[in-house]
Amino acid sequence: MAQYTRVSGFVGLITLQNPPVNALSAPVRQGIVDTVQRALSDPEVKSVVICGQNGIFCGGADIKEFGTDMFGPPLIPMIHAIEAANKPVVAAIEGIALGGGLELALGCHYRIAHSKARLGLPEVTLGLLPAAGGSQRLPRLIGVPAALNLITTGRHVTAAEALQLGIVDQVTDHNTVDAAVKFALRVGGQSLDARRISTYPCPQQPDLDALFEDVMQKVRQSARGAIAPVACVQAVRAAATLPYTQGMEREKELMATLFTSGQARALQYCFFAQRAVGRWKMPNGARWDTSKPRPVHKAAVIGLGTMGRGITVALAQTGLSVIAVESQEKQLMEAKQAVSGMLERGAKRRGVAPVLDRISYSQDIQAVADVDLVIEAVFEDMALKTKVFRQLSAVCKPGTLLCTNTSALDVDQLASETPNPELVVGMHFFAPAHVMKLLEVVYGSRSSPEAVATAMQLGKKMGKASVAVGNCRGFVGNRMLKLYLEQASFLLEEGATPELVDGALEEFGFPMGVFRMSDLSGLDVGWRIRKGEGLVEPGMASGQSARIRQGRRYSPLGDLLYEQGRFGLKTSRGWYQYDKPGSRVARSDPWVHSFLEEYRARHGLVARNIDHQEVLERCLYAMINEGFHILEDGIAAGPEDIDVIYVFGFGWPRHRGGPMFYADMVGLAKVMEKLEHYHQAHPDVPYLQPSNLLRKLVASGSPPIHTWGEVIKKLHSQL
Ligand code: NAI
Repeated sequence: MAQYTRVSGFVGLITLQNPPVNALSAPVRQGIVDTVQRALSDPEVKSVVICGQNGIFCGGADIKEFGTDMFGPPLIPMIHAIEAANKPVVAAIEGIALGGGLELALGCHYRIAHSKARLGLPEVTLGLLPAAGGSQRLPRLIGVPAALNLITTGRHVTAAEALQLGIVDQVTDHNTVDAAVKFALRVGGQSLDARRISTYPCPQQPDLDALFEDVMQKVRQSARGAIAPVACVQAVRAAATLPYTQGMEREKELMATLFTSGQARALQYCFFAQRAVGRWKMPNGARWDTSKPRPVHKAAVIGLGTMGRGITVALAQTGLSVIAVESQEKQLMEAKQAVSGMLERGAKRRGVAPVLDRISYSQDIQAVADVDLVIEAVFEDMALKTKVFRQLSAVCKPGTLLCTNTSALDVDQLASETPNPELVVGMHFFAPAHVMKLLEVVYGSRSSPEAVATAMQLGKKMGKASVAVGNCRGFVGNRMLKLYLEQASFLLEEGATPELVDGALEEFGFPMGVFRMSDLSGLDVGWRIRKGEGLVEPGMASGQSARIRQGRRYSPLGDLLYEQGRFGLKTSRGWYQYDKPGSRVARSDPWVHSFLEEYRARHGLVARNIDHQEVLERCLYAMINEGFHILEDGIAAGPEDIDVIYVFGFGWPRHRGGPMFYADMVGLAKVMEKLEHYHQAHPDVPYLQPSNLLRKLVASGSPPIHTWGEVIKKLHSQL
C-alpha cells in the first residue's frame, strides 16, 4: 500500500506502507502507481516526495513473491513513469534503500538521505542483478568503477559514502521527510531535463576495455563459479557501451539467464534457511518461541588457546564483560597480547574504539564466581573438561550456564558429571572464533530449553549463524566432514593426486580443496582426533592390515605423512610444499607423488584414472548420505540446519545452497543410485550404503526439500 497526503500546500507526499521494510509487493507497487498519478494530475501539487513509514524507505523487492506468478504493475515502467514525471519527485531515504528500493530512488529526480541510512544493490547476494534499471542508472550517476564495486559485491554504503559517491544529493541529521518536503518546495517548477538519470551519458572512462577485462578476471576468481557477479559486470558494461534502452534490454536478458540458472534458487534458499534455523526446536518439544533466554551481561572463557582467544574477542565485541581464565602463565601472557591485538585491529577496521577494558584476565578459576555464562575451551580431553566443569559448578553462582566448546565430545556425559545438567550446553565455535560466522549450539538430553535459548540468543548477538543441533560424535559439521575427508584419502589410494582432488572441489566452488585445507589446519590435528578414536595404532600404518580398522576400510595416508613430520603449513611440508613456514602458496610436491606410488605398490593397489566427476560424487555424496542419517537421527531438525552449517562453517559454495539442497538439485534418485554403485564397488565402506531416509524419500517420489519434514516425521513415528 501507499498513502497519499498533500503537505505544505504544494507537495504530494507518498508514504510506502508494508512493514517491516516496506518491500515493493504488488499492492505497494499499485499504490505507488496510483498515488503518483494522483499527484501529477492535481494542479495544486508542484512537487512530490516519496518516503516509507516507520523510518524505513524501502528494503527492495518482496522476496516472498520470487518464484510466484507476477501480478500487479511491474517495477520498470513504474520507475520510468516517476522519472518521466513533469513535477520533481524527491526520495526521502530513512533507514534503508536497498535493491528495488534504491532503484526506485534512482528513478526519482532528487535523493535526500538521513545520516544513519544505508543504501545498496544487494541483488547479487541472491543470485540476481539490479534489474529494474539499477545496473543502467547507477553507472550513469556515479561512474563505472564505483558502480561495479557496489553492484558486484552488493555491499551497503552509509549515507556519507553515498553523498561522496554522488548517489544522494543531500544528507540530513534531522527529520528527513521534513527536509525533503522543504527541498521539494524549493525545486518545484524547475526544469527536470538534467535530473533524469537514464538520459545521462555514462561518465567517460579511459581504456574501458582494459578496466572491464581486469574487473571480470577478479570477479570470476572471487565468484568461485557463481554467475551473478559475472552477469553484473556484463550489465554494467552494457550501461557503459550502449544507449539506455539497449542497456535495459541487456539487463533483462541477463536477468532471465540468472532466474533460470538454479543458482538464484540456491541463494534465495540460503537466505530463508538462515532465518529458519533461528526458529529452532528440540525433539522434546521445546522451541524458540516458547523458551525464554536469560540475560547475559558477564561471561567467562576458560582456556586461552586458539579457540578461547577468539571467543574472548567475540564476546567483548558484543558488549559483554569477560573474565578470561588460563591456567598456564606463559599462555596467559601470550593470550593477553594476542586478544588485545585482535581487538585493536578489529576496532581500527570498524572505525571504533577498542574495548580492551571489558576483559579481565586471571589464572584462578575462582574469578568466575559472578558470571552469567561460562564457555570452556580447554584441551579436547574428557577427563580435563569434567574436572573443569566440576570446579565451575562449585565456584559459579547458582544458575550460571556452563557451555563447552568441544568439537566432538559427548555433551551428555559432561553434563552428567555436574550437579545441574540442565545448565550444560555445547557452544561449538569454528576457528578463528571471532571471524567464523558459524556456531553449533549442542543441546544434551537434559539441557533446559532456557539454556538452549540463551546460547542461541548469545550466538545471534555475536553475529553468528547459530544452529541448534543434537548431541552425537562430531555433532553435524564434523560428523559429515569425517566421511568427506576419508573419501578424499581413499581416492589417493586408488590413483588420484592431492592436486586432482583439490582441483575438482575448488572448481565446484569450495575456497580450498580438502588437502589444502588439511595442510592449513595441520595434519597433527587430524592425527590427534583419529588417535582419540582409537584409529591410530603405532607400527600399524605400513603393515598388511593397515587399511582395515575397526572392521572397515581405513586410509593411513594422513598418519604416514604425520609420522614424517609433515604437519602442513606449519612445517612447510604436508600434502603440498610451501616456500617457508606460514606461506600459503601450495606447490606440488614430487615427494608426495612418489610416496603415493610406493604406497600403492606396497599394498598391491593399481592406480586407475579418476576424474572430477568421481571426486565430487565420492566426497560429496558420502557427506550428503551422512546428512540424511543426521536427519533420520533427529540430530538436525531439518535440511536447512545442515545447509547453514556447511555454508557458514565449511566453505560450501553458497550458490549451491548447501549439501542437502544440492542433493535435491541433483535429484535424490541419482544420488541414491550413485551411492549404491560406489557401495558395490567398495563394500568395506559401509557408509556408502544409502540411508533409510534417502530411500524413503526416493520411494515417495523425491519430494522437494521444503517437504522432507513430512517424510522425516513419518519415519520417526514408525520407530
Ligand atoms: P589449545 O590447545 O590451543 O588451548 C587450550 C588452552 O586451555 C591452553 O592454553 C591450556 O593451557 C588451557 N587449559 C588447559 N587446562 C586448563 C584449565 N584447567 N584451566 C584453564 N586453562 C586450561 O586448544 P584449542 O584448539 O583452543 O581447543 C580448545 C577446545 O576447542 C577443544 O575442546 C577443541 O576440540 C575445541 N575446538 C577447537 C577448534 C580448533 O580449530 N582449534 C575448533 C572448534 C573447537
